[in-house]
Amino acid sequence: MDRIKARELTKEEREAQQRYAAAFKALPDRPRRYAIVTYGCQMNERDSENLAGMFEEMGMHSAPDRTQADLVIFNTCCVRDNAQRRALGNVTWLKELKKERPHLIVAVCGCMMQQSSMGETILRQYPFVDLAFGTANLYRLPELLYQGVTERRRIVEVLHAQQEIIPEALPEKRSQGSQAYVTIMYGCNNFCTYCIVPYVRGRERSRDSQKILEEVTYLRDEGLQEIMLLGQNVNSYGLDREDELSFAQLLDRVDKIGIPWIRFMTSHPKDISEDLIEVMANGNHVCHALHLPAQHGSNRILASMNRRYTRESYLNTIRKLREKIPDIALSTDLIVGFPGETEEDFEQTCSLVREVRFDSAFTFIYSPREGTAAANMPDQVPAEVASRRIQTLIAIQKTITKEKLEAMIGQQQRVLVEGISKRDGQMVAGKNQYNITVNFPGNAEMIGQFTKVRIMSAGESTLRGSLET
Ligand code: SAH
Ligand code: SF4
Ligand code: F3S
Repeated sequence: MDRIKARELTKEEREAQQRYAAAFKALPDRPRRYAIVTYGCQMNERDSENLAGMFEEMGMHSAPDRTQADLVIFNTCCVRDNAQRRALGNVTWLKELKKERPHLIVAVCGCMMQQSSMGETILRQYPFVDLAFGTANLYRLPELLYQGVTERRRIVEVLHAQQEIIPEALPEKRSQGSQAYVTIMYGCNNFCTYCIVPYVRGRERSRDSQKILEEVTYLRDEGLQEIMLLGQNVNSYGLDREDELSFAQLLDRVDKIGIPWIRFMTSHPKDISEDLIEVMANGNHVCHALHLPAQHGSNRILASMNRRYTRESYLNTIRKLREKIPDIALSTDLIVGFPGETEEDFEQTCSLVREVRFDSAFTFIYSPREGTAAANMPDQVPAEVASRRIQTLIAIQKTITKEKLEAMIGQQQRVLVEGISKRDGQMVAGKNQYNITVNFPGNAEMIGQFTKVRIMSAGESTLRGSLET
């Protein structure tokens, strides 16, 4: 594989954008209120925080809802067909809104834009879209918007995802209260045969560990209670840089900074190291929760997916994790209906789930993505077969999740309160370290605080408790 040297966004490039932002702010008739609609994973959520930061820098403010905005931007995902359809469907909905509010600016960005020919599709089939750009040039928002508004023309700029920029020092408006995302690396090199992410997010590029540690220290000083380190494949952090820390070393240093809770995602099972397990086991702040996507239980399908581990090595990793961290909560992603999946292969996924007894699982029906290897594989599985299989799998996991939650009844747990419960104003909702939502009687003063809660009962995916004094 060609290795294109990644580089950080330069100070000059960033300053040029700041000048565009200032010039935009000074325009008399410019849009004032923005609304961001985010689809997809935490990577996109984090990007949206940077988009918000750039809009604010341009003198704009968040609209109370999208019908009151002067600019609506869709930050899209294309990992599965339904994610993409939902995003495009909602963009089309704005066409109507624009009839009522002709000055409305409609913008589209994110992973979907990085797909080949999407730029042309937008230009031709979505004439009401004013601005479109991809993930590779997100940092150019101020310039692109300034041009679009002052020159009164549509701007569609999509750069090849291979343009390996590490966007340091972008402004941000964090969306999450006492929790924060910290990106540690961008892109993915794994090319799992079903997955579009490496094509739309480019090659792996790690941020400088010094900058990451500075950011985490800043967040600690700001009083943040929880951070999540982000990357498509955090276990290979640092491998693309010379003399860089490994992920285990980075996590250890982050642990020592002292933010109460640290999470990270996503880990690839093929390179969970012994060192990482040690840091998780011995650290003071790393939550005992791990998302470890298995994807499948059949070795034949795992090989065809290019996952580069076997069912046996996956189970071995799980065994080691539980040996060193007995209370670890494990979650996973599973795909059904991958090309060539027989009833026997599927049964292997079911038996893996029964054997591991995951705390929770995200299950997906395989969705062919144009340009990926699996899209051209023979023996695509009919939709009705895949849908029957996913129902079976969901039912198996549902029982296990319930049993796992019931096993927590009676425990005293630390819960970080996130907000007032949506269903009941007398209740608050928070998370325990295992990433499970816990509801209990409380008030707004508790938001952002750790509380001691006794677990009283279990629902299908959440817990209920009472406050301990
Ligand atoms: N980098 C992460 C997440 C990638 S996308 C990882 O490697 O785990 C999140 C999940 O979407 C994947 O784990 C996979 O289960 C699912 N997924 C990705 N591409 C898919 C496709 N084409 N069809 C169905 N599910 C898919
Ligand atoms: Fe996609 Fe695989 Fe990379 Fe995850 S590791 S983003 S599933 S290619
Ligand atoms: Fe979707 Fe892009 Fe994330 S395709 S899953 S938003 S990296």
